[in-house]
Amino acid sequence: FVRGFSTSKAMSSTISQVTVIGGGLMGSGIAQVAAQAGNSVVICEVNDKALQNAQTRIQTSLERVAKKMYKDKPEDGKKFISDTMGRMKLSTAVNDAVKSADLVIEAIVEKMEVKHKLFKEIDAVAPGHTIFASNTSSLSIKEIASVTKRKDKFGGLHFFNPVPVMKLLEVIKTDETSEDTYKKLLEWGKAVGKTTITCKDTPGFVVNRLLVPYMAEAARLYERGDASARDIDTAMKLGAGYPMGPLELLDYVGLDTTKFILDGW
Ligand code: NAI
Repeated sequence: FVRGFSTSKAMSSTISQVTVIGGGLMGSGIAQVAAQAGNSVVICEVNDKALQNAQTRIQTSLERVAKKMYKDKPEDGKKFISDTMGRMKLSTAVNDAVKSADLVIEAIVEKMEVKHKLFKEIDAVAPGHTIFASNTSSLSIKEIASVTKRKDKFGGLHFFNPVPVMKLLEVIKTDETSEDTYKKLLEWGKAVGKTTITCKDTPGFVVNRLLVPYMAEAARLYERGDASARDIDTAMKLGAGYPMGPLELLDYVGLDTTKFILDGW
């Protein structure tokens, strides 16, 4: 993986108000990169405790970024952190949280019925121009969008963990996503410092479609007793130049998460 921080400042983008629903591992990272890029951000969670967790996670992550970016200017680093934190608001009221959003990014639990309930609710209250996006890893964007009346203003924004570090953003266009929405999503992705690639609404998009079967095959190789876990990882690191072995990566992603994705396919 390429390690580095997204540090781009605000750029001309039609999207300036972003609401991130779900402030967990991914949502807090998405909120952070948006605020770093100059967006006004609302993070929406189920309760105050979850909001506090998100805030703490972002603060810690920003301190790490500031240490790198402002090595010799700790005062500027402090200002960077407080400016970025100052662009974020916290909310437990979803209806209120979306009412002035240009873009809503959903990063809640990976369950279709929960996502449907959320999007139905916010579709009724968000302004007409608001674009909706899901960060789902394994569900169909078109199916998530099906409960809304704005299928043309719906796409996928698939980030990678840890969001502030990983440079890639997969922008997903369904056959109902309008060209205008797609362009705005691409533009916004670049404005928050990511390199974007485009993929159709297909299982696993690009990265997981290739990565998940690869990791599963490594597990099968191990289960058959063909090679030890250590040797499988060493083989791919030294023989294919990968920074992590497949089993190490599988542990990082989570065995449960990977199994869940495979079962879904
Ligand atoms: P997480 O469990 O860390 O965070 C989910 C958060 O959503 C929790 O804090 C939960 O309280 C909150 N939440 C649940 N229902 C909600 C609702 N109705 N309104 C507001 N907040 C709600 O999960 P994580 O890992 O951040 O994943 C979120 C999404 O991102 C999933 O769709 C997942 O597939 C996707 N994703 C995950 C990646 C990963 O590496 N973990 C990578 C790329 C995408």
